[in-house]
Amino acid sequence: MAAPAQSVVSPVQSVPPAGQDPASASSAGPWSLRHLHLELRVSFAAAGAGRLRGRARLELRCERPGGPGGAELRLDSHPSLSVSRAALLPPPGGPGDAAGQALPVESRPFTAYGSALHVTLPQAPRAGQMLTLLIDYEAGDGPGVCWLSPEQTAGKQKPYMYTQGQAVLNRSFFPCFDTPSAKFTYSATVKVPEGFTAVMSATSWEKQKDNTFVFKMSQPIPSYLIALVVGDIVSAEVGPRSRVWAEPCLIEAAKKEYDGVIEEFLVVGEKLFGPYVWGRYDILFMPPSFPFGGMENPCLTFVTPCLLAGDRSLVDVIIHEISHSWFGNLVTNASWGEFWLNEGFTMYAQRRISTEVYGLPYTCLEAATGRALLRQHMDATGEDHPLNKLRVVIEPGINPDDTYNETPYEKGYCFVSYLAHLVGNQSKFDGFLQAYVNRFKFQSITADDTLAFFLEYFPELKEKGVDTIPGFEFDRWLNTPGWPPYLPDLSPGQQLMRPAEELAELWAADGLNMEAIEAVDISGWRTYQLVYFLDQVLQKSPLPEGNVKRLSKMYPKISKAQNAELRLRWCQIVLKNNLEAEYSKVKDFLHSQGKQKYTLPLYRAMWGGSEATRALAMETFSATAPQLHVNVQNYVKKILGLGGAEA
Ligand code: BES
Ligand code: ZN
Repeated sequence: MAAPAQSVVSPVQSVPPAGQDPASASSAGPWSLRHLHLELRVSFAAAGAGRLRGRARLELRCERPGGPGGAELRLDSHPSLSVSRAALLPPPGGPGDAAGQALPVESRPFTAYGSALHVTLPQAPRAGQMLTLLIDYEAGDGPGVCWLSPEQTAGKQKPYMYTQGQAVLNRSFFPCFDTPSAKFTYSATVKVPEGFTAVMSATSWEKQKDNTFVFKMSQPIPSYLIALVVGDIVSAEVGPRSRVWAEPCLIEAAKKEYDGVIEEFLVVGEKLFGPYVWGRYDILFMPPSFPFGGMENPCLTFVTPCLLAGDRSLVDVIIHEISHSWFGNLVTNASWGEFWLNEGFTMYAQRRISTEVYGLPYTCLEAATGRALLRQHMDATGEDHPLNKLRVVIEPGINPDDTYNETPYEKGYCFVSYLAHLVGNQSKFDGFLQAYVNRFKFQSITADDTLAFFLEYFPELKEKGVDTIPGFEFDRWLNTPGWPPYLPDLSPGQQLMRPAEELAELWAADGLNMEAIEAVDISGWRTYQLVYFLDQVLQKSPLPEGNVKRLSKMYPKISKAQNAELRLRWCQIVLKNNLEAEYSKVKDFLHSQGKQKYTLPLYRAMWGGSEATRALAMETFSATAPQLHVNVQNYVKKILGLGGAEA
């Protein structure tokens, strides 16, 4: 992607009033956004970078007049977004200029990740007053809009553009209330060049003449879930309400990977958590530099092409994104400090669906690999790190994306599992989850809302005071950093984990017992068994001299794997054991994809290693930086001491 490091503007200038999302400069709260309409024109320049010109029409209602700004309305925006005109439209059917009344508009500094667009209204609004605002703008080289040259795509023929909103990046795509506390419906028309297709996270999709695509999202969603891709993409059906989208050269593989499996996950999800309200569930395979495994854009999940393993082994990512259809997309965290509400509940929901479809042993094995990630994260940061709480205090000026880590996922999963444990009956707890979704659907909430509802739903537990059991207080779960006080029992996975643990023991021994090692047949192991085995080996590394070399030779299935989860672990083992002969694999892996969760651990390992691995890191980064997402670029720079983002 042609995304050079964003220019960093001056630090915090204005602090929003208490109680509001500290990551938003907008007037969300005093105003509600009812509907957003985007008219976009996308064009590509020869070198890959392109132009996005837009008009945003915001239909707003004044909820609380008389705030400090009086007749002023603020939108989240970004220094890269240039606004040419703001206007107030006359009420529908009423008199007035159809082009609207031009309004004074000014972009002011807010934080390093966004600016505040101040629009001055002709007069102070009344409570309940509706108004329609037009903003004409052009999106520049901001972090939310990524432009890829043909070489950065799978097909290498045509350029590509995509947007990534979560957490606070969509303010560089369109001016809005960029806070998860505000939900609104949206529609869009997108004009693209001949030979390109546009898709969005929307309920309906229609191609009209002039290469113009029309979209409508009929359910209220937060801004971070609006997403757009323009590229040479095609689709194939994989289920009654699902298709896969990909570049033409990947579409066969994409179809093969998930043909006939998606519907079952949706059906199980509906059985457990209630109706699937989004209509379609489609999957878009992104170019290799996409920084996430998956992104739950409603109706259209975006995923890394690394999922194309050929054997469906990484389908847990799809189940995860499907689970966000209830947790995150229907019931949404009101601010990024409560991100665990999105991810912790989603991890729990993912593993409930996985248990129904694949059984408890396999799901416990997958959960054990998640626990290993949490262990690695807490070892690296120290358990007491303030980010190792479920409820994170995000100070004004701190970019919520910089707080991203394993805690909201896996400690969040433990807390939800703990709530289930308090209930003591799976189907009762499933019933609670369904009632919870129904109670808070289309709303944005905090953990206090969740826990109050839990105690209300189970009055006998409230009576018992389960929220204040010493050592397990709800308050402690939320506000104290550290290892989870309760861990769900993963022993049903023992039958799959034990052989992997034993084999790792054998390989960690001083004199290798080859007879015992050869007696273990790993040819039938599932990918996650191998992942679990490799995590154990990594934990015991460095192994005695020569062991990893032999391991590599003995299991080409692992050391020459194409599966991204195996490649990540193998590269980590190579680095931790200074297996210089295989450093090129680290380089190749980092050249082949740009997922943040693969990229950062490898750079950390290289930077924490020898002079040779540090050199490898520098060399690899200078070759691959232009194709990494700008956020990932900045995090790597920080690791390598090159002055990247604060993390
Ligand atoms: N919503 C996240 C991705 C995300 C988080 C993007 C924060 C931007 C900011 C997505 O649902 C996710 O968690 N993806 C995981 C999948 C995994 C946990 C199965 C990923 O990308 O690795
Ligand atoms: Zn998620």
